[in-house]
Amino acid sequence: MRRPRLKPRLKQGAGAALAPFLAMEVVARANAAQAARAPSDPTVIRLEVGQPAAGAPATAIAAAQAALSAGLPMGYTEALGLASLRRRIARHYHDTYQAVVSPDRVAVSTGASGGFLLAFLAAFDRGDRVAMASPYYPPYVNILTALGMTPVVIETGPETGYQPTVALLQAMADTGEGLPDGLIVASPCNPAGTTLEEDELAALARFCHAHGIRLVSDEIYHGLNWERPPATACAFSDSAIVINSFSKYWSMTGWRVGWLVLPEDLIGPVQRLKQNLFISAPHISQIAAEAAFEATDEIAATLAGYRRSRAHLLQTLPEAGLTDLMPAQGAFYVYAKVAGDSTQFCDRLLREAGIAATPGIDFDPVRGDRFVRFSYCGPEADIVEAARRLSTLHGV
Ligand SMILES: Cc1ncc(COP(=O)(O)O)c(C=O)c1O
Repeated sequence: MRRPRLKPRLKQGAGAALAPFLAMEVVARANAAQAARAPSDPTVIRLEVGQPAAGAPATAIAAAQAALSAGLPMGYTEALGLASLRRRIARHYHDTYQAVVSPDRVAVSTGASGGFLLAFLAAFDRGDRVAMASPYYPPYVNILTALGMTPVVIETGPETGYQPTVALLQAMADTGEGLPDGLIVASPCNPAGTTLEEDELAALARFCHAHGIRLVSDEIYHGLNWERPPATACAFSDSAIVINSFSKYWSMTGWRVGWLVLPEDLIGPVQRLKQNLFISAPHISQIAAEAAFEATDEIAATLAGYRRSRAHLLQTLPEAGLTDLMPAQGAFYVYAKVAGDSTQFCDRLLREAGIAATPGIDFDPVRGDRFVRFSYCGPEADIVEAARRLSTLHGV
Protein backbone atom coordinates (compact mmCIF):
# COMPACT_ATOMS: atom_id res chain seq x y z
CA MET A 1 0.00 0.00 0.00
CA ARG A 2 1.28 3.44 -0.92
CA ARG A 3 1.90 5.69 2.03
CA PRO A 4 0.51 9.25 1.68
CA ARG A 5 3.35 11.70 1.09
CA LEU A 6 3.36 14.05 4.02
CA LYS A 7 4.73 17.49 3.43
CA PRO A 8 7.20 18.04 6.25
CA ARG A 9 6.56 21.16 8.26
CA LEU A 10 10.04 22.20 9.17
CA LYS A 11 10.74 25.09 11.41
CA GLN A 12 12.49 28.23 10.12
CA GLY A 13 14.56 30.49 12.32
CA ALA A 14 13.92 34.18 12.89
CA GLY A 15 16.74 34.97 10.45
CA ALA A 16 14.73 33.40 7.62
CA ALA A 17 12.22 36.26 7.88
CA LEU A 18 14.88 38.89 7.41
CA ALA A 19 14.01 41.86 5.20
CA PRO A 20 15.93 42.04 1.92
CA PHE A 21 18.57 44.68 1.32
CA LEU A 22 16.51 46.40 -1.38
CA ALA A 23 19.44 48.09 -3.14
CA MET A 24 20.59 44.61 -4.14
CA GLU A 25 17.13 43.94 -5.61
CA VAL A 26 17.37 47.14 -7.64
CA VAL A 27 20.68 45.74 -8.95
CA ALA A 28 18.87 42.59 -10.09
CA ARG A 29 16.20 44.69 -11.85
CA ALA A 30 18.85 46.81 -13.58
CA ASN A 31 20.66 43.62 -14.70
CA ALA A 32 17.38 42.32 -16.15
CA ALA A 33 16.72 45.63 -17.95
CA GLN A 34 20.26 45.55 -19.37
CA ALA A 35 19.86 41.93 -20.55
CA ALA A 36 16.47 42.65 -22.15
CA ARG A 37 17.57 45.72 -24.10
CA ALA A 38 17.81 45.63 -27.90
CA PRO A 39 21.32 46.01 -29.39
CA SER A 40 20.43 49.53 -30.51
CA ASP A 41 19.19 50.59 -27.06
CA PRO A 42 21.56 52.61 -24.86
CA THR A 43 23.16 50.72 -21.98
CA VAL A 44 21.71 51.00 -18.51
CA ILE A 45 23.66 53.47 -16.37
CA ARG A 46 24.26 52.12 -12.89
CA LEU A 47 23.78 54.70 -10.16
CA GLU A 48 22.10 52.30 -7.74
CA VAL A 49 24.96 50.88 -5.67
CA GLY A 50 28.05 52.09 -3.87
CA GLN A 51 30.42 49.96 -5.93
CA PRO A 52 33.44 52.06 -6.95
CA ALA A 53 34.28 51.63 -10.64
CA ALA A 54 38.00 52.12 -10.00
CA GLY A 55 38.61 48.63 -8.61
CA ALA A 56 41.48 47.72 -6.28
CA PRO A 57 44.57 49.96 -6.49
CA ALA A 58 47.46 48.69 -8.63
CA THR A 59 49.67 48.32 -5.53
CA ALA A 60 47.10 45.95 -3.98
CA ILE A 61 46.78 43.85 -7.13
CA ALA A 62 50.57 43.67 -7.56
CA ALA A 63 51.02 42.51 -3.96
CA ALA A 64 48.37 39.81 -4.37
CA GLN A 65 49.91 38.65 -7.66
CA ALA A 66 53.41 38.57 -6.16
CA ALA A 67 52.19 36.51 -3.19
CA LEU A 68 50.51 34.00 -5.48
CA SER A 69 53.50 33.82 -7.85
CA ALA A 70 55.82 33.23 -4.92
CA GLY A 71 53.67 30.22 -4.07
CA LEU A 72 52.70 31.55 -0.66
CA PRO A 73 50.11 29.11 0.68
CA MET A 74 46.94 31.09 1.23
CA GLY A 75 45.95 29.66 4.56
CA TYR A 76 44.08 30.86 7.58
CA THR A 77 45.72 33.80 9.31
CA GLU A 78 45.46 34.59 12.99
CA ALA A 79 41.86 35.39 13.80
CA LEU A 80 42.52 39.10 14.39
CA GLY A 81 44.49 39.34 11.15
CA LEU A 82 48.05 39.50 9.83
CA ALA A 83 50.30 41.26 12.34
CA SER A 84 51.82 43.47 9.62
CA LEU A 85 48.38 44.61 8.41
CA ARG A 86 47.25 45.36 11.97
CA ARG A 87 50.39 47.45 12.50
CA ARG A 88 49.79 49.26 9.19
CA ILE A 89 46.21 50.06 10.15
CA ALA A 90 47.37 51.36 13.56
CA ARG A 91 49.86 53.61 11.72
CA HIS A 92 47.00 54.89 9.54
CA TYR A 93 45.36 56.29 12.71
CA HIS A 94 48.56 58.12 13.60
CA ASP A 95 49.10 59.45 10.05
CA THR A 96 45.49 60.43 9.33
CA TYR A 97 44.05 61.50 12.68
CA GLN A 98 47.14 61.90 14.92
CA ALA A 99 45.45 59.32 17.17
CA VAL A 100 47.34 56.66 19.11
CA VAL A 101 45.90 53.20 18.42
CA SER A 102 47.77 50.07 19.47
CA PRO A 103 47.87 47.31 16.82
CA ASP A 104 46.51 44.99 19.55
CA ARG A 105 43.19 46.82 19.30
CA VAL A 106 42.86 46.25 15.54
CA ALA A 107 40.81 43.27 14.33
CA VAL A 108 40.75 42.57 10.59
CA SER A 109 37.27 41.55 9.39
CA THR A 110 35.49 40.37 6.26
CA GLY A 111 34.46 43.86 5.27
CA ALA A 112 32.55 46.25 7.49
CA SER A 113 29.64 43.80 7.19
CA GLY A 114 31.57 41.10 9.06
CA GLY A 115 32.61 43.80 11.51
CA PHE A 116 28.97 44.62 12.38
CA LEU A 117 28.27 41.01 13.31
CA LEU A 118 31.34 40.83 15.53
CA ALA A 119 30.68 44.22 17.12
CA PHE A 120 26.98 43.64 17.81
CA LEU A 121 27.53 40.14 19.23
CA ALA A 122 30.43 41.29 21.40
CA ALA A 123 28.71 44.42 22.73
CA PHE A 124 24.99 43.67 22.97
CA ASP A 125 22.53 41.05 24.20
CA ARG A 126 19.27 39.88 22.73
CA GLY A 127 16.65 42.53 23.48
CA ASP A 128 19.17 45.35 23.80
CA ARG A 129 18.10 48.62 22.17
CA VAL A 130 20.50 50.04 19.61
CA ALA A 131 19.74 53.49 18.20
CA MET A 132 20.58 55.14 14.89
CA ALA A 133 19.42 58.18 12.94
CA SER A 134 17.21 57.79 9.91
CA PRO A 135 17.84 57.60 7.01
CA TYR A 136 20.31 54.78 7.73
CA TYR A 137 22.19 51.93 6.03
CA PRO A 138 19.51 49.17 6.05
CA PRO A 139 21.72 46.24 7.18
CA TYR A 140 22.16 47.94 10.60
CA VAL A 141 18.49 47.29 11.30
CA ASN A 142 18.38 43.93 9.53
CA ILE A 143 21.46 42.49 11.27
CA LEU A 144 20.36 43.71 14.71
CA THR A 145 16.91 42.21 14.10
CA ALA A 146 18.37 38.86 13.01
CA LEU A 147 20.36 38.80 16.25
CA GLY A 148 17.25 39.43 18.37
CA MET A 149 18.34 42.97 19.24
CA THR A 150 16.01 45.94 18.96
CA PRO A 151 16.84 48.72 16.49
CA VAL A 152 15.61 52.12 17.65
CA VAL A 153 15.29 54.65 14.87
CA ILE A 154 15.76 58.32 15.79
CA GLU A 155 13.90 60.56 13.36
CA THR A 156 16.27 63.29 12.30
CA GLY A 157 15.91 66.20 9.93
CA PRO A 158 17.87 68.90 8.10
CA GLU A 159 18.36 70.89 11.33
CA THR A 160 20.87 68.24 12.56
CA GLY A 161 22.08 67.25 9.08
CA TYR A 162 20.15 63.98 9.46
CA GLN A 163 22.61 62.98 12.18
CA PRO A 164 21.96 62.10 15.84
CA THR A 165 22.82 64.64 18.52
CA VAL A 166 23.31 64.65 22.27
CA ALA A 167 20.05 66.63 22.56
CA LEU A 168 18.14 63.91 20.71
CA LEU A 169 19.61 61.24 23.00
CA GLN A 170 18.83 63.36 26.04
CA ALA A 171 15.25 63.68 24.80
CA MET A 172 14.97 59.88 24.81
CA ALA A 173 15.84 59.91 28.49
CA ASP A 174 13.57 62.87 29.28
CA THR A 175 10.51 61.49 27.50
CA GLY A 176 10.69 58.21 29.39
CA GLU A 177 11.67 56.17 26.32
CA GLY A 178 14.99 55.62 28.04
CA LEU A 179 18.53 55.81 26.76
CA PRO A 180 19.52 53.03 24.35
CA ASP A 181 22.18 50.39 25.06
CA GLY A 182 24.03 51.31 21.89
CA LEU A 183 24.25 54.04 19.27
CA ILE A 184 25.41 53.62 15.68
CA VAL A 185 26.77 56.71 13.96
CA ALA A 186 28.03 56.99 10.40
CA SER A 187 29.88 60.08 9.19
CA PRO A 188 29.83 60.49 6.23
CA CYS A 189 26.61 58.54 6.15
CA ASN A 190 24.82 56.47 3.57
CA PRO A 191 22.42 57.46 1.98
CA ALA A 192 22.26 61.13 3.02
CA GLY A 193 25.97 61.87 2.50
CA THR A 194 25.96 64.19 5.54
CA THR A 195 28.72 64.42 8.15
CA LEU A 196 29.11 65.15 11.84
CA GLU A 197 31.41 68.01 12.82
CA GLU A 198 34.37 66.97 14.96
CA ASP A 199 32.93 68.62 18.08
CA GLU A 200 29.54 66.95 17.49
CA LEU A 201 31.14 63.50 17.22
CA ALA A 202 33.26 64.22 20.32
CA ALA A 203 30.15 65.29 22.27
CA LEU A 204 28.26 62.15 21.23
CA ALA A 205 31.22 59.91 22.10
CA ARG A 206 31.62 61.50 25.54
CA PHE A 207 27.88 61.40 26.27
CA CYS A 208 27.72 57.72 25.29
CA HIS A 209 30.76 56.84 27.40
CA ALA A 210 29.39 58.72 30.41
CA HIS A 211 25.96 57.06 30.16
CA GLY A 212 27.07 53.49 29.44
CA ILE A 213 25.91 53.58 25.81
CA ARG A 214 28.19 51.57 23.51
CA LEU A 215 29.03 53.77 20.53
CA VAL A 216 29.57 52.00 17.20
CA SER A 217 31.09 54.37 14.66
CA ASP A 218 30.86 53.24 11.04
CA GLU A 219 33.75 55.09 9.39
CA ILE A 220 33.65 53.28 6.05
CA TYR A 221 33.29 56.53 4.05
CA HIS A 222 36.25 58.25 5.73
CA GLY A 223 38.51 59.92 3.21
CA LEU A 224 35.50 60.63 0.99
CA ASN A 225 34.92 63.94 2.76
CA TRP A 226 34.32 66.88 0.44
CA GLU A 227 34.24 69.75 2.94
CA ARG A 228 36.59 69.03 5.83
CA PRO A 229 38.71 66.07 6.99
CA PRO A 230 36.99 63.39 9.07
CA ALA A 231 37.40 62.78 12.80
CA THR A 232 37.49 59.29 14.29
CA ALA A 233 35.45 58.24 17.30
CA CYS A 234 38.42 56.45 18.84
CA ALA A 235 40.11 59.83 19.34
CA PHE A 236 37.37 60.77 21.84
CA SER A 237 36.33 57.56 23.53
CA ASP A 238 38.04 54.46 24.92
CA SER A 239 34.77 52.52 24.87
CA ALA A 240 33.68 53.16 21.26
CA ILE A 241 33.95 50.51 18.54
CA VAL A 242 35.18 51.86 15.21
CA ILE A 243 34.36 49.96 12.02
CA ASN A 244 36.07 50.62 8.71
CA SER A 245 36.67 48.82 5.43
CA PHE A 246 38.77 48.71 2.28
CA SER A 247 35.58 48.63 0.19
CA LYS A 248 34.97 52.33 -0.48
CA TYR A 249 38.00 54.64 -0.19
CA TRP A 250 40.26 51.88 -1.51
CA SER A 251 37.62 50.56 -4.02
CA MET A 252 38.07 46.94 -2.86
CA THR A 253 34.44 45.79 -2.40
CA GLY A 254 34.95 42.24 -3.69
CA TRP A 255 38.04 41.56 -1.60
CA ARG A 256 35.87 41.49 1.52
CA VAL A 257 38.29 43.02 3.95
CA GLY A 258 37.81 45.65 6.62
CA TRP A 259 38.69 46.23 10.26
CA LEU A 260 37.56 47.19 13.72
CA VAL A 261 39.32 49.30 16.31
CA LEU A 262 38.22 47.79 19.59
CA PRO A 263 38.06 49.03 23.14
CA GLU A 264 40.33 46.96 25.44
CA ASP A 265 37.42 45.07 27.01
CA LEU A 266 36.20 43.75 23.65
CA ILE A 267 39.50 42.50 22.15
CA GLY A 268 39.21 39.01 23.71
CA PRO A 269 35.47 38.64 22.96
CA VAL A 270 35.92 39.68 19.31
CA GLN A 271 38.92 37.38 18.94
CA ARG A 272 36.87 34.41 20.17
CA LEU A 273 33.86 35.34 18.02
CA LYS A 274 36.14 35.76 15.00
CA GLN A 275 37.78 32.35 15.57
CA ASN A 276 34.39 30.67 15.66
CA LEU A 277 32.41 32.64 13.08
CA PHE A 278 34.97 33.33 10.34
CA ILE A 279 38.34 31.86 11.46
CA SER A 280 40.02 34.71 9.60
CA ALA A 281 39.53 37.24 6.81
CA PRO A 282 40.80 35.98 3.43
CA HIS A 283 44.61 35.82 3.52
CA ILE A 284 45.11 37.13 -0.03
CA SER A 285 42.84 40.10 0.67
CA GLN A 286 44.82 41.01 3.77
CA ILE A 287 48.05 41.06 1.76
CA ALA A 288 46.40 43.24 -0.89
CA ALA A 289 44.88 45.55 1.74
CA GLU A 290 48.24 46.26 3.33
CA ALA A 291 49.66 47.29 -0.04
CA ALA A 292 46.60 49.45 -0.78
CA PHE A 293 47.87 51.96 1.79
CA GLU A 294 50.71 52.78 -0.63
CA ALA A 295 48.35 53.78 -3.47
CA THR A 296 48.29 57.47 -2.57
CA ASP A 297 48.52 58.92 -6.10
CA GLU A 298 46.01 56.49 -7.61
CA ILE A 299 43.51 57.19 -4.85
CA ALA A 300 44.02 60.94 -5.18
CA ALA A 301 43.08 60.61 -8.87
CA THR A 302 39.97 58.58 -8.00
CA LEU A 303 38.92 61.18 -5.43
CA ALA A 304 39.40 63.97 -7.97
CA GLY A 305 37.02 62.09 -10.29
CA TYR A 306 34.42 61.80 -7.51
CA ARG A 307 34.69 65.53 -6.87
CA ARG A 308 33.98 66.28 -10.54
CA SER A 309 31.07 63.79 -10.69
CA ARG A 310 29.61 65.22 -7.48
CA ALA A 311 29.88 68.79 -8.77
CA HIS A 312 28.27 67.77 -12.06
CA LEU A 313 25.33 66.09 -10.34
CA LEU A 314 24.85 68.94 -7.87
CA GLN A 315 24.60 71.31 -10.82
CA THR A 316 22.52 69.21 -13.21
CA LEU A 317 20.02 67.51 -10.88
CA PRO A 318 18.37 70.85 -9.95
CA GLU A 319 18.33 71.82 -13.64
CA ALA A 320 16.43 68.56 -14.28
CA GLY A 321 13.86 69.48 -11.61
CA LEU A 322 15.34 67.75 -8.55
CA THR A 323 15.90 70.87 -6.49
CA ASP A 324 15.70 69.44 -2.96
CA LEU A 325 19.04 67.74 -2.38
CA MET A 326 20.60 66.79 0.93
CA PRO A 327 24.00 68.39 1.46
CA ALA A 328 26.38 65.89 -0.17
CA GLN A 329 29.22 66.52 2.30
CA GLY A 330 30.76 63.07 2.02
CA ALA A 331 30.57 59.51 0.66
CA PHE A 332 29.55 59.26 -3.01
CA TYR A 333 25.79 59.67 -2.87
CA VAL A 334 23.30 62.40 -3.63
CA TYR A 335 20.02 61.89 -1.79
CA ALA A 336 17.29 63.80 -3.56
CA LYS A 337 13.65 64.51 -2.76
CA VAL A 338 11.24 63.72 -5.59
CA ALA A 339 7.73 65.03 -6.17
CA GLY A 340 5.89 61.70 -6.25
CA ASP A 341 6.47 58.15 -5.07
CA SER A 342 10.19 57.35 -5.28
CA THR A 343 9.74 53.68 -6.25
CA GLN A 344 7.59 54.72 -9.21
CA PHE A 345 10.10 57.43 -10.02
CA CYS A 346 12.97 54.88 -10.08
CA ASP A 347 10.91 52.49 -12.25
CA ARG A 348 10.32 55.33 -14.70
CA LEU A 349 14.00 56.32 -14.66
CA LEU A 350 14.99 52.78 -15.56
CA ARG A 351 12.28 52.35 -18.20
CA GLU A 352 12.48 55.73 -19.94
CA ALA A 353 16.05 56.87 -19.34
CA GLY A 354 17.94 53.63 -18.71
CA ILE A 355 19.19 54.89 -15.34
CA ALA A 356 19.19 52.64 -12.27
CA ALA A 357 18.82 54.47 -8.94
CA THR A 358 17.69 53.36 -5.48
CA PRO A 359 14.40 54.48 -3.92
CA GLY A 360 14.76 55.72 -0.35
CA ILE A 361 12.20 53.37 1.18
CA ASP A 362 14.90 50.95 2.28
CA PHE A 363 16.80 53.66 4.13
CA ASP A 364 13.82 55.27 5.80
CA PRO A 365 10.49 53.41 5.99
CA VAL A 366 8.69 56.62 7.06
CA ARG A 367 9.90 59.28 4.58
CA GLY A 368 11.93 57.26 2.10
CA ASP A 369 9.09 56.98 -0.40
CA ARG A 370 9.87 60.62 -1.28
CA PHE A 371 13.63 60.20 -1.76
CA VAL A 372 15.98 58.68 -4.31
CA ARG A 373 19.67 57.89 -3.86
CA PHE A 374 22.06 58.45 -6.75
CA SER A 375 25.52 56.93 -6.40
CA TYR A 376 28.35 58.70 -8.26
CA CYS A 377 31.24 56.24 -7.77
CA GLY A 378 30.78 54.79 -11.27
CA PRO A 379 32.72 55.90 -14.36
CA GLU A 380 32.76 59.69 -14.74
CA ALA A 381 31.43 59.45 -18.31
CA ASP A 382 28.39 57.56 -16.98
CA ILE A 383 27.58 60.39 -14.58
CA VAL A 384 27.75 62.92 -17.41
CA GLU A 385 25.54 60.75 -19.63
CA ALA A 386 23.07 60.09 -16.78
CA ALA A 387 22.72 63.83 -16.19
CA ARG A 388 22.13 64.37 -19.92
CA ARG A 389 19.42 61.68 -20.03
CA LEU A 390 17.78 63.11 -16.90
CA SER A 391 17.59 66.52 -18.50
CA THR A 392 15.49 65.03 -21.32
CA LEU A 393 13.00 63.43 -18.94
CA HIS A 394 9.88 65.56 -18.63
CA GLY A 395 7.85 66.11 -15.50
CA VAL A 396 10.51 65.13 -12.94
C1 LIG B 1 27.44 52.71 5.56
C2 LIG B 1 27.98 51.38 5.10
N1 LIG B 1 28.53 50.56 5.99
C3 LIG B 1 28.98 49.34 5.63
C4 LIG B 1 28.89 48.89 4.33
C5 LIG B 1 29.36 47.50 3.98
O1 LIG B 1 30.68 47.52 3.52
P1 LIG B 1 31.60 46.26 3.30
O2 LIG B 1 31.74 46.08 1.83
O3 LIG B 1 32.91 46.65 3.93
O4 LIG B 1 31.02 45.10 3.99
C6 LIG B 1 28.35 49.73 3.36
C7 LIG B 1 28.22 49.28 1.95
O5 LIG B 1 27.65 49.92 1.10
C8 LIG B 1 27.87 51.00 3.76
O6 LIG B 1 27.31 51.85 2.88
